[in-house]
Amino acid sequence: MADIAGSQLAAVAEGVAEQPPELSKRARKKLQKKEMRAARNAARKAADKERHRANVEQRKRERAEELAAAPSEEARQEILAARREARRQRVGHNTEQRAARAERLRRAVEGAGQKVVLDLEFAQLMRPNEIHSLTKQIMYCYAVNRRSANPAHLWLTGCNGEMATHLQKNCGYDRWSFIEKEAKSYLEAFEDRKENLVYLTADAETVLDDLDMSKIYIIGGLVDRNKWKGRTQEKAAAQGIQTAKLPIGNYLKLSSSQVLTVNQVFEILLKFVETRDWKTAFFDVIPQRKRGEVKAEAGKVSLDDDDAAEAGKVSLDDDDDAAEEAANGDHSKEDINMGFDEDADDDNDADEEEELEDEEIDVAKRQCVRPAGNEEAEEHSASVAEATPDVQQAEQATIE
Ligand SMILES: C[S@@+](CC[C@H](N)C(=O)[O-])C[C@H]1O[C@@H](n2cnc3c(N)ncnc32)[C@H](O)[C@@H]1O
Repeated sequence: MADIAGSQLAAVAEGVAEQPPELSKRARKKLQKKEMRAARNAARKAADKERHRANVEQRKRERAEELAAAPSEEARQEILAARREARRQRVGHNTEQRAARAERLRRAVEGAGQKVVLDLEFAQLMRPNEIHSLTKQIMYCYAVNRRSANPAHLWLTGCNGEMATHLQKNCGYDRWSFIEKEAKSYLEAFEDRKENLVYLTADAETVLDDLDMSKIYIIGGLVDRNKWKGRTQEKAAAQGIQTAKLPIGNYLKLSSSQVLTVNQVFEILLKFVETRDWKTAFFDVIPQRKRGEVKAEAGKVSLDDDDAAEAGKVSLDDDDDAAEEAANGDHSKEDINMGFDEDADDDNDADEEEELEDEEIDVAKRQCVRPAGNEEAEEHSASVAEATPDVQQAEQATIE
């Protein structure tokens, strides 16, 4: 009897659960904003793609026109040879840059980099969209680090389960190099250096005034709009780990909370390593819309009228569009790509390769012979193909 009543109740509860929940006015407004933002992002992406396509076409046209305008076959061949040479130099330059970057990153993981951990043990506190946002923020950290003149030695700890799957599915992080991917918690990974761990949290009492190379700074991998306020402070306190907050209050008076996103905190650390100047780091990284007033002691910097007007309306509450974008880590494709530019370079190289081949085939058609210099073009592709894995292999080697 009790069972029947129980199952009836469950059925009723199920029925209720199936009903689409009535949205409050605030929730409707939020949903509307979210949809508008998604539409804006989609439109921006489509426009970016179209612009890129149009640029490639335009460049092809101009190059074809230049060839067509050449007064003689000899002049045409000279143009082609000059283009091959320019390209050879560009590829050489890119290869050098990649090698230099790989060297900087290698040095960072060998001890020269400030040690920073992204603690990924909070997946169970986040909704799928928050995990997705965190994934983007992690991608951004990885990208910014690769680009940095002074990269950090970066760890992802507690990188298992849903978080690892998400990272793998969305950004193929298996191929990431010069980053430590650790399924273990930071406590296990650094069990012999617990006294050097410093958990960064906006809820700490202690204010960070400098970075110490012997310390390992931990950033909480949490996108929560501060729903879980104090969570990282509590965690660190329970584990007997030091905590510290960024000295934002000494330089800026944010119009609301001083809780920043994971990537913002990481980028501030990188900027500080580079400049040893918190003010520069905060001004470079914290978006203007988030900055309220400049503190009196930083009086040298004055806000202009536009800034002041903006500062006046800045709020970081849940309905704030800008805050949501930042909290979601909404970065442009270029931002995200900036550290993955081996791929971007390869795309450009491929575009150029295609253009060169088109041109040469064109010339060959006219000449009715095998494309002149095609061996050279093949040689070029081979050198690009060789150069890229070399660097990647070198990068991979130090991490494995
Ligand atoms: C979006 S916040 C998460 C806030 C979360 N409620 C908490 O308990 O930390 C992401 C992480 O960035 C770091 N963080 C954000 N603002 C900070 C600040 N003002 N000072 C130090 N660390 C900060 C912390 O490590 C934090 O866990």
